This record gives sequence, structure tokens and C-alpha cells, in this order.
Amino acid sequence: MAALLLDLKPGDEVIVPAYTFVSTANAFVLRGAVPIFADIRADTLNLDERTLPSLLSERTRAVVPVHYAGVACEMDYIGEVARQNGIAVVEDNAHGLFGKYRGRWLGTFGDLATQSFHETKNITCGEGGALLVNNPSLLERAEIIRQKGTNRARFFRGEVDKYSWVDVGSSYVMSDVLAAFLYGQLECWSAIQNRRRAIWERYARELAGWASANGARLPVVPTHCEQAWHMFYLILPSEGIRRALISHLKIKRILAVFHYQPLHLSEYGRRYGGKGGDCPVAEDLSDRILRLPFFTTMSVNEQERVIEAIHSFPGI
Ligand SMILES: Cc1ncc(COP(=O)(O)O)c(C=O)c1O
Repeated sequence: MAALLLDLKPGDEVIVPAYTFVSTANAFVLRGAVPIFADIRADTLNLDERTLPSLLSERTRAVVPVHYAGVACEMDYIGEVARQNGIAVVEDNAHGLFGKYRGRWLGTFGDLATQSFHETKNITCGEGGALLVNNPSLLERAEIIRQKGTNRARFFRGEVDKYSWVDVGSSYVMSDVLAAFLYGQLECWSAIQNRRRAIWERYARELAGWASANGARLPVVPTHCEQAWHMFYLILPSEGIRRALISHLKIKRILAVFHYQPLHLSEYGRRYGGKGGDCPVAEDLSDRILRLPFFTTMSVNEQERVIEAIHSFPGI
């Protein structure tokens, strides 16, 4: 919907981080646009805003910051570059619901922002999502695109006496059953976030000493960012050590997984991506990141097992 609303045409360019899920780029590639891959910051793993000036071209139409692990991108700088160059900002807020940047909710900075309610997210309905429309000039068309290109929303509000097909669109509405399931969680969002915060903070507390003694590091959350408690990860000294730790945890029946493969190196990225810069940080960190088990209903004992298993890892 974001790509449709921005009226992207074949050959238009959209700057996305090289380290993200493929959906971030897919939405635009499906309209014929070309993703330009930006490298990520070594601290937060977010799109490195300092690369933006060198990635802009006459064809750039949008930039898509992904708030990785629910920690905000540098939205002041990104917003300023977008304003100066007349391009749209579309936040991929799949991880960032209820996170903040300088006291302001993530998802409220871009012209548009996308939410995911996939089963891996803090708030979920199995499969589903939402589009946040912050630019009022896009709102009316968003309603139409969501309803198969019809002005049905206006009809429901009694603004027209019949509805008809007025634009392109598709069936982007969520089913009532899924929406009800989702709504139940949204009603208790702060309890969910508090529980996740406790789990995240315990990992941070109990693994900090281990990490610094073993050349590993924990997630970095800048002081002006309030994170969304979406994920807990370790950055290990090497890919080999990551492999060894995964095996060690697996023997103890603990599943820890890595994350995205850099998009610009993938078959898809090479076929559809445009000429971006090099992305050495994304390549390096994607080899060394390990996500620890992290879910809202994780019990104190379950987390204890994970922490103990890491402390007993002989591999470093
Ligand atoms: C950063 C990011 N963007 C987008 C998505 C896609 O979300 P969905 O599957 O709900 O479209 C994901 C999925 O996990 C993601 O991690």
C-alpha cells in the first residue's frame, strides 16, 4: 500500500537498509522500483544515516528506515535529508511498535509507517499488519486502496449513496476474526511490554559480565531511544564462535537463531537491487549476531536455563 500511495514507477529508487527482511524491499520492487541498499550502523544495526547523501540520485523517491530490534533509527537526520531532497519517509516499524525516539512514538515520523503483526512480533494475530498514515494528503487514497480500489469507506460513513470502483487497490483489510484476536492484545499492550522489558533487562544484567569477558557484546540502545523490547541478541566475536554456541545451546535443547542474510548479496538483491554502496558492516554483523529465545510468556525458569547454558559455553 505504501508503494501504491507513493505512486512509484518502474525505475524509481527507494533506499532501504541492506540488513532487513525482504518485505521491506519487496513492497517497492513489486511496483518496479529499485531498492538501493544502505549499510547499517555498527552500534544499533539500523540504516546508517550517514550513507544517505551518497545514495541519493535524481530517481530517489523514498527512504525506508527499519527500527531494528525496536531501537529507533536517527529520525532527525533522516527526516532532514528527506525534506531537503523532497523524498518520502516510510518507516518499517515491524519491530518498533511502542518504541520511542526523543520521546515520540515510532511510526509517527514517516509520511507512512508499516506495522507487522506476524507471529514473531510483540503483538500478533498470526499474519497481519497495519499502515500508519501520517501524511494527511495520503489518507483518502489509502482508504480506497485498502478496499480494492473502491470508495466503500465513504459509503459506510454516509458520504456517498453508493460505492464504486475509483482507483487501483486490493483486499488489504484484516479479517474480523484476526482483528478481534489482535485487539485483545492491544488492550493489554503495556502488560505485554512490561513483561518483555523484564525479560530483556534480565538478559542484559546477567549476560553483561559474560559478554565483556568473552569479546561479545549486547545490544546498544542510545539514551535518546526508548526501545520496544522486541528482541535480545548477542554479537559474537566470530561466525565460528556463533556456530559453536548455537550447537552448544542445541545440545541443551535451546533454540537460538541468527537473523537476516544481507539483502544486497542475495540472488534477489543482485537481480533487483540498484547500484548502492558497499555494505561491509551488514555483512560482518549478519555473520556474528545470535538472537536468544525471547517471548512474552517466557518463564523465569526457562530464561534461567538459557542464561546458565551461555555461562557454561566453553567455546570462547
Ligand atoms: C523489518 C521487517 N520488516 C517487515 C517484515 C514483514 O512483516 P510481515 O511478514 O508482517 O509482512 C518483517 C518480518 O518479520 C521484518 O522483520
